[in-house]
Amino acid sequence: MILGIGSAAPDKVLTNFDLEKMVDTSDQWIRERSGIERRHILEDGKANSDMATKAARNAISHAKLKPKDIDCIILATISPDMLFPATACKVQDNLGATHAVAFDISAACSGFIYALHMADSFITSQVYRHVLIIGSEVLSRFVDWEDRTTCVLFGDGAGAAVIGPSDGERGILSSFIRSDGKLTDLLCTPGGGSLHPASIDTINQGMHFLKMMGREVFKHAVRTMVDAARHGLDLAGFHSDDIDLLITHQANIRIIHAVASRLKLPDEKVFVNLQEYGNTSAASIPLAMDQAKNEGRLKAGDHCLLVAFGGGFTWASSLIRF
Ligand code: ACO
Repeated sequence: MILGIGSAAPDKVLTNFDLEKMVDTSDQWIRERSGIERRHILEDGKANSDMATKAARNAISHAKLKPKDIDCIILATISPDMLFPATACKVQDNLGATHAVAFDISAACSGFIYALHMADSFITSQVYRHVLIIGSEVLSRFVDWEDRTTCVLFGDGAGAAVIGPSDGERGILSSFIRSDGKLTDLLCTPGGGSLHPASIDTINQGMHFLKMMGREVFKHAVRTMVDAARHGLDLAGFHSDDIDLLITHQANIRIIHAVASRLKLPDEKVFVNLQEYGNTSAASIPLAMDQAKNEGRLKAGDHCLLVAFGGGFTWASSLIRF
């Protein structure tokens, strides 16, 4: 079950009006096509691990635990401090979580639910008792600020949760994760890895920036999130009527509405905060969960369905009784 939730977002805000001065776009286009109004941008000199540590501290304190109580740290990200070592190890050191094992996973925007699935498996098989999962992204460092088709969509943020054994009432009722490697080209950062090592050429071609085939991603996003949601509900023997709150990956308001409408969920059961943060990839679901908790929209006993999709292609869901 979820013992604690926390998040962190940078203070600096970049509005659609600020973007109008940087690329050929408009507030109206961005709001109508995506629903995004603002995004938060990490200040220079700070790294992913700084935000991740802040979110993790908040989650550990909400769980009324100490960093030394954490047995395992799983950090989901596509914008790590460095290619290696794992950003999770840096977070472990920042926290003083000296009894934990720490590692990163890469599943793009589905990363937090992948981490949740792994944490739940570790706990139910009694490998670990307290697993800290984090989704943290600094996508502002990986987007091309001259490419209007991507730079208007993404932002920075972090969210975390501490997972522990169920108390018999509350807990993770189902989780479902999937991927399809045929769709890797839809969303990727092609340069800087072993396939295209960093060179003057890769930099001149902008291969170190995030690339996306937006229209194609849109189609697969709706299809895969509905698939994940249905599998998650079926595995727990639930119907969409039983859901109190749907929290999807916050990529595009039109994708969220299309998924909610296929699941026949009314607007009041759908949590949306992408207007404030944009797409924060692996951080978007825990950022939304923390805000929902703080707004009293996740009460004890509530059934919350988490659903995500992302580069890979990956997709995932988890049904939780809070
Ligand atoms: N401002 C103004 N015009 C723009 C902008 C912009 N920022 N960006 C694109 N346009 C133009 C295009 O050039 C195009 O012009 P044209 O018709 O003259 O060619 C027109 O707007 C329409 O472009 P489309 O791509 O068809 O617009 P669409 O309605 O599909 O919206 C969007 C684009 C918002 C990217 C949408 O396709 C989308 O949200 N796709 C999914 C993206 C997503 O969810 N990504 C998740 C990534 S998760 C991860 O793993 C990191």
